[in-house]
Amino acid sequence: MNALDGHCASLLGHLGVAADKSLPVDVQDLFNRFTLDSISDLLFGFPMRALEHHSHVETRYRSFVQAFGKLQDICGRRIRIGSNWRIIEAVRLFGDQTVLPARIVDDFLKPVISEAQKKVEANGRIGDPSNLLEFLVQECDDLKIVRDTLLSFFLAGKDTTASLLTFTLYVLTMYPQVMSKLRAEVDACVGRHGYPTSAKIQSMLYLRAVLNETLRLFPPLPMNIRRAAVSTTLSSPLSKMGDLHVNKGTSVTYSPFLMQRRRDLWGEDAEEFRPERWLAEGSPTSMESSLRSIFVPFNAGQRLCLGKTFAYQECSFVLVRLLQNIECFSFAEDVQPKDSQPPSAWRVRGGRQSFEQCWPTSSITLYAKGGLWVRMKLRE
Ligand code: HEM
Repeated sequence: MNALDGHCASLLGHLGVAADKSLPVDVQDLFNRFTLDSISDLLFGFPMRALEHHSHVETRYRSFVQAFGKLQDICGRRIRIGSNWRIIEAVRLFGDQTVLPARIVDDFLKPVISEAQKKVEANGRIGDPSNLLEFLVQECDDLKIVRDTLLSFFLAGKDTTASLLTFTLYVLTMYPQVMSKLRAEVDACVGRHGYPTSAKIQSMLYLRAVLNETLRLFPPLPMNIRRAAVSTTLSSPLSKMGDLHVNKGTSVTYSPFLMQRRRDLWGEDAEEFRPERWLAEGSPTSMESSLRSIFVPFNAGQRLCLGKTFAYQECSFVLVRLLQNIECFSFAEDVQPKDSQPPSAWRVRGGRQSFEQCWPTSSITLYAKGGLWVRMKLRE
């Protein structure tokens, strides 16, 4: 939590400067930079200093971050295209576009991993590893496994968390009454200047309800896909189509974004942002388990997100710090790029689209098109 607090202080520094000068700020960009710093600290033991370097990380990390982003874009596009991606990309003619960025990523990671190995060889087992890399190199000799594990955590933990923070801030800006209620809980449980310990965060039920309601309406991974390893039958009491036979090798796409907005599953107010629904049975965590077949922002079963607890902790920590310091947020529509404002055709549609003030869209993760521009006022 201490490292997190340092990155949070930098984040608040940026927000404070903008608030003092009454300048609008793209909070989505700041949250992306914040999660890049916090995940690199957690994985490698050093932050990439994205918050210090205005939308770019420190020079020595830049090519890695850019190459990783390129790989993410290519993979996202391939997922969307499906199994014909080799034909569409004309791989035979132009070669595989991932080769060069993958080499840059490898060249960055190799010395980082070997330094950690040397440290373990020199000092023996590190009693309490301070980052994932140290833990991995002392548990495993296979370089490929260490590298792949680091990369999957880097991929899984960065944009998802930034997405949840962005959309939580979006709903707080949109629903001032939720913001007031949440602030009252922060003041009661942590106080104006108190430290948000894990125990205090756990006692904040409304905060968890706000996060869950945001994850329900704006799941950071809005679509997912599975391929059947063996022929099987999918059956569910919730299915309108009865049992579904799925042949071996068939891909099945599913959308938490759509599932978590279904009226037949969530009630007539399914598209409304109403954190109170998570308090109906007492605590949001007990409702999470009773709704686990329809609330799947972290997936479920064997491939449940490994960073779920960390993600809740991290986002809660940041939100508490924000609410301790900031009085209110308002949309800065005047600086929101015109082509990223919700299309006027949405206004005549039913559901959330008729009143949405940002344009949620996705590559792999959900984000606000054109950023989320807000102005804010600091607390007295
Ligand atoms: C709000 C934030 C997050 C959300 C919504 C989220 C969501 C998910 C989802 C849906 C999956 C399943 C992907 C699949 O199998 O198709 C997943 C997997 C995973 N997540 Fe997260 N995640 C979040 C944050 C994090 C963080 C902060 C970390 C690491 C610190 C992390 C680490 C992982 C890992 C390692 C996997 C792969 C697990 C496996 O394949 O068995 N996630 N996450």
